[in-house]
Amino acid sequence: MSSAGVSDQSWTGTALVVGAGGIGSAVALELSQRFPELTVLTCGRQGPPDQDLKIDLEDDASLDHFTGALQARGDRLRLLFNCSGRLHGPELQPEKRLKQVNRRQLEQQFAINAIAPVLLARAVEPLLKRDQPFHFASLSARVGSIGDNRSGGWYGYRAAKAAQNQLLRCLSLEWSRRWPQTTVTLLHPGTTDTELSKPFQSFVPAEKLFSPQRAAGHLIDVLVRQTPETTGRFLAWDGQEIVW
Ligand SMILES: NC(=O)c1ccc[n+]([C@@H]2O[C@H](COP(=O)([O-])OP(=O)(O)OC[C@H]3O[C@@H](n4cnc5c(N)ncnc54)[C@H](OP(=O)(O)O)[C@@H]3O)[C@@H](O)[C@H]2O)c1
Repeated sequence: MSSAGVSDQSWTGTALVVGAGGIGSAVALELSQRFPELTVLTCGRQGPPDQDLKIDLEDDASLDHFTGALQARGDRLRLLFNCSGRLHGPELQPEKRLKQVNRRQLEQQFAINAIAPVLLARAVEPLLKRDQPFHFASLSARVGSIGDNRSGGWYGYRAAKAAQNQLLRCLSLEWSRRWPQTTVTLLHPGTTDTELSKPFQSFVPAEKLFSPQRAAGHLIDVLVRQTPETTGRFLAWDGQEIVW
């Protein structure tokens, strides 16, 4: 039995970890250590030389190629964990006020934080089997909760994560009818020490800043507890439900 009390026996086949950044790399390592029977593949657009499958989530041709590459491998997919995302970049800063909101930055935020996860689901759907369990998890963020938004700011990132939540909630409902063994879960990792959070860590108390390894452990604990009956939820690292 795993630490979460779920039988490890069912965790066989192939796990795809998409976006092997800070959290994604730790998730891939944790999965391979916890479930030795699972073949864990990391997928991204550049990444380490040992990256298994190339994919640029903002490029339709690359998504199509990804489907073809998976079909050619003949993998039995057990799990896909989308750990990609973006908060800031060379020409992208989270907005503090309305004046800083602009079309280009909103499009950048939506491209990876909202549109990419649902297109990734579309890319792997041809590999699903009606009688085989499949977990689809994607990293969202608590700040994407509309009900929990008490401080404003970060317009684009918040809105894109909220849009991801809605898109994947739709997916969970459709898949529960068409692929009854699937689960779709939106996860908040907690503030984690990665490149993404680095510029914003000064406001975070040390005990609330997780290492990627700790975040990965929590996230997998939550994920392995999901069943088709609990599909379509937005959960924090400790398993608590987050208001949409
Ligand atoms: N860290 C936190 O405190 C925190 C808190 C709440 C939520 N989250 C969420 O957790 C997720 C992972 O964040 P992280 O902290 O691990 O960030 P990270 O270290 O910056 O990793 C992000 C990953 O996304 C990949 N990515 C971005 N655009 C891509 C594209 N077009 N195609 C393929 N891959 C792409 C990056 O790859 P490249 O190297 O190619 O750019 C990178 O591997 C994000 O969704 C983030 O919003 C993080």
